[in-house]
Amino acid sequence: MTSFQLTRTLDEDAAETALRADVLHGLTHTPKVLPPKWFYDARGSELFEEITRLPEYYPTRAEREILLERAREIAAVSGARTLVELGSGSSEKTRHLIEAMPALDTYVPVDVSESALRGAATALLADHPGLRVHALLADFTRALELPDSPGPRLVVFLGGTIGNLLPPERAVFLAAVRSMLSPGDALLMGTDLVKDEAVLVAAYDDARGVTAEFNKNVLAVINRELDADFHTADFEHVAVWNREQEWIEMRLRARSELTVKVRALDLVVPFAEGEEILTEVSAKFRQEGVRKELAAAGLELTRWWTDTAGRFALSLSVAEGPVG
Ligand code: AVJ
Repeated sequence: MTSFQLTRTLDEDAAETALRADVLHGLTHTPKVLPPKWFYDARGSELFEEITRLPEYYPTRAEREILLERAREIAAVSGARTLVELGSGSSEKTRHLIEAMPALDTYVPVDVSESALRGAATALLADHPGLRVHALLADFTRALELPDSPGPRLVVFLGGTIGNLLPPERAVFLAAVRSMLSPGDALLMGTDLVKDEAVLVAAYDDARGVTAEFNKNVLAVINRELDADFHTADFEHVAVWNREQEWIEMRLRARSELTVKVRALDLVVPFAEGEEILTEVSAKFRQEGVRKELAAAGLELTRWWTDTAGRFALSLSVAEGPVG
């Protein structure tokens, strides 16, 4: 008597249309820029999983340490009967949380990958046949309409993915999350923390070159989806710490002067030698900054947990004041 439902809010063409618009805008813009969400086709998702196991890439392990340590406390403090996970992927980390929540009625994983949603639900329901799983095939950066389910709700957004949004995008995103919450509901969010530059740069420029391959995968996605002719070997992976903004920038740097054709867009893109495409920012946070950004969205920070080494934080915040 397992219960699984999937609601689609993305039509088949939506991703293709968005990719075209992002590539047209980003590759004709100065400086050139591509949004990080296009890394994650099947190959990119596989490479990201590999990154999470690299010795240099600490965030996944640090976050798992906190979740394992605090799952009971999170369950007790939130009293959640509905758990909503934005960007749920394999739902692997959330398992600990689900297992610590005896009162949980409904799990709502939200992801853009239907195969990830189905795979995660099948695995979870095998171990928790009484759990209701209502998956949403949706882009979590847009306002979501959540299925009817009992409160209180706990929305979780893990992995430090908030750091891949620019500050104005973060404000829009947090306001959208706030609008999904009623009094008594909460947000659990993972944020990577500011630390020694060498540690940060190594996490985004690993010795085995897995992150370099992940970065270049966006070019392979554009080649396949938009009939472009990028040669990935013509580009060099670059990871730099931006001290003023306190974020890591991943870029792809043209090794020579070259031209790329994007046939589906009728676009010819010239690169000067050394010219770069900004492919990702990954912001690193401090507690006061997180508190301020949450407060600006009408969320009050109530708990702050870090791993023993102080590299990563999970914050719990609640909807403050009357629902706006
Ligand atoms: C876990 C998706 C937030 O910014 O650290 C890993 C993605 N980029 N290595 C991050 C990523 C390069 C990652 N997120």
